[in-house]
Amino acid sequence: MTITPNIAERVGVNLHLRPSHPLNTIKTLIENHFLKTDPTFELYSTLPPLVSTQSCFDDLLIPPTHSSRSKSDTYYYDNTTCLRTHTSAHQSTLLKESGSKRFLVTGDVYRRDEIDRCHYPVFHQMEGVKMFEAGTGGDVIEEDLKRTLEGVTKEIFGEVEMRWNDDYFPFTSPSFELEIFFNGEWLEVLGCGVIQTKIIENAGLKQPGWAFGLGLERLAMVLFEIPDIRLFWSKDPRFIDQFKSGEIIKFKPFSKYPSSIRDISFWTGSQNFHANDFSEIVRNCISEDIIESVELIDEFVHPKTKEVSNCFRFTYRSMERSLTNEEIDKVHFKVRERAVDELGVVLR
Ligand code: DAH
Repeated sequence: MTITPNIAERVGVNLHLRPSHPLNTIKTLIENHFLKTDPTFELYSTLPPLVSTQSCFDDLLIPPTHSSRSKSDTYYYDNTTCLRTHTSAHQSTLLKESGSKRFLVTGDVYRRDEIDRCHYPVFHQMEGVKMFEAGTGGDVIEEDLKRTLEGVTKEIFGEVEMRWNDDYFPFTSPSFELEIFFNGEWLEVLGCGVIQTKIIENAGLKQPGWAFGLGLERLAMVLFEIPDIRLFWSKDPRFIDQFKSGEIIKFKPFSKYPSSIRDISFWTGSQNFHANDFSEIVRNCISEDIIESVELIDEFVHPKTKEVSNCFRFTYRSMERSLTNEEIDKVHFKVRERAVDELGVVLR
């Protein structure tokens, strides 16, 4: 079991279902666009996030050695069950068991990850699948995929420059990513491709189809100008009350509380040290989101012993209140202790 209480607490919160929440606005915008062009699309937004590793990985042809399966990347419930790491986890089951041929699945997904402005262990994705008549050619599918996703992107971002890049995903071939030129830079919007025949056959079907997946926070952060991913979880009325159902409204930052910097340096002590495990310890030392980022600022290999030293810089800042030095010191001390106890690092 690698699911910790602070993660288990997030299951069932369903930010994407809260009426005026930015994540709900983006979700609804995309869903409505699909329904407008094809009313047969089925919408799923409440599929439970605890899934079998079979459907999260094996059914999608993700190799047994793939890093996304590792205990330092995924929250496992037991050997055969985990919190979904992507909404693609429902692709096969829906094709096989529900008979759905065109659908959108939105939900919370979970990944052990680094701690910074753009990463949070829980975020939200939307997966789309469209199956075609048996015998439809690959180029027809690819064309439909690209035109459809360009249409959605235009719906959300308006007239923007777009470009397609080749990409790789185990579950699609060919695979692509779509980027748009927005606010002066190229921004990745989604991943997609033609579903691997083997996945379709395993689901008992014979017809071809396409799939795509996108992250809602990433899109909402640029559209609503939300500077920190933790804000999506905020209960502060100064955040929540700024948004209205169905409208893209630019976030007006309220005054930021000051930040406080603390470093931790240690010898990693073992070959198996994973920065994600360290991040997880950090997350478990706090009961509120009071850490903005944890950044590896120095890595050093001892020339003789080959031991590895890491220095992590912590930026402490709450978005809702100012923090006292005492409480920061207390958390920071706890992080040091737990890193020693649980990861076997040696403090410097
Ligand atoms: N599951 C991928 C991820 O989490 C996103 C994705 C890429 C989904 C390509 C798809 C796809 O269905 O075809 O990064």
